[in-house]
Amino acid sequence: MHLISLKDWSQADIMDVVERAIEIKRYPSKFAHVLNGCSLALLFQKTSTRTRCAAEAGMTQLGGHALYLDWQSTNFALADLQDEIRVLSSYVDLILPRLLKHEDVLRTTDAASVPIINGCCNRFHPTQALTDLMTLQEKLGRIEGIKLAYIGIHNNVCNSLIAAGMKLGIEVTVVAPAKNPAAIDTELLAEANRTGLCKSSDRLKETIAGSDVIYTDTWVDMEFFTDSEFEEEKRRRIELMQPYQLNKALLDGQDTLIMHCLPAHRGYEISDDLINDPRSIIFEQAENRLYSMKALMLKLIERS
Ligand code: CP
Repeated sequence: MHLISLKDWSQADIMDVVERAIEIKRYPSKFAHVLNGCSLALLFQKTSTRTRCAAEAGMTQLGGHALYLDWQSTNFALADLQDEIRVLSSYVDLILPRLLKHEDVLRTTDAASVPIINGCCNRFHPTQALTDLMTLQEKLGRIEGIKLAYIGIHNNVCNSLIAAGMKLGIEVTVVAPAKNPAAIDTELLAEANRTGLCKSSDRLKETIAGSDVIYTDTWVDMEFFTDSEFEEEKRRRIELMQPYQLNKALLDGQDTLIMHCLPAHRGYEISDDLINDPRSIIFEQAENRLYSMKALMLKLIERS
């Protein structure tokens, strides 16, 4: 069993991880040795704080061991991806790649003999979505029927929220004046529209007023934020997206939770003061990366 996108997972499997994550958070010592002797390989083409550290620390806390492989300083940079994954599979129990291209993540699943966890590609960020579901369950005591507004650029995080919402009955409204072309998944959107659980809107204020949760993410993917070749597109997006910035004026009087997967670009998609606003659950969400990652690793190793 792999985790490439929540599209491929059943409601029962998703809720299994969410409930286990809450249990692990409450009773960490009960799980201190459950993965004794197990190894996890992390393979990263992109930078990370939360995903990498939650997985490394989480595996240690479960009694196992994690290896961090930077793409550029290993032979992944030189060799055939599938050859290297096949070999890595013979050393470890679980592989978490964070790769630029979704197609390459799929290629790892063809070569691996152990479970693969998609650590975020251009199309999906499923480990983030599991954390988001856990955080909503904790904060609101339910998931089904939640009204979530995603305001920003339609990207991999937005896709993962739509996929999660479709499985668990969250009504997702997307207010996104622009899309990341590499994130477009027509099959996902067609299915989401068919279920009636996802819609897009250009009515910003109306959407905010009708939502339990407002979620945003970076306007420019982290690998492009300081890329000089992306400078013109970055300038265009900042101008286009400024009216959609989450700030105190926009959310004035709204009783809503505020979420962001981090890292945030303060002053762009979200104002500095809103990150620490009493309605913000951003840092609880970030902390929960640890528990949901532990629950996920445990499930995949138990099932393999
Ligand atoms: N949210 C998230 O995936 O954070 P990192 O990029 O730091 O892993």
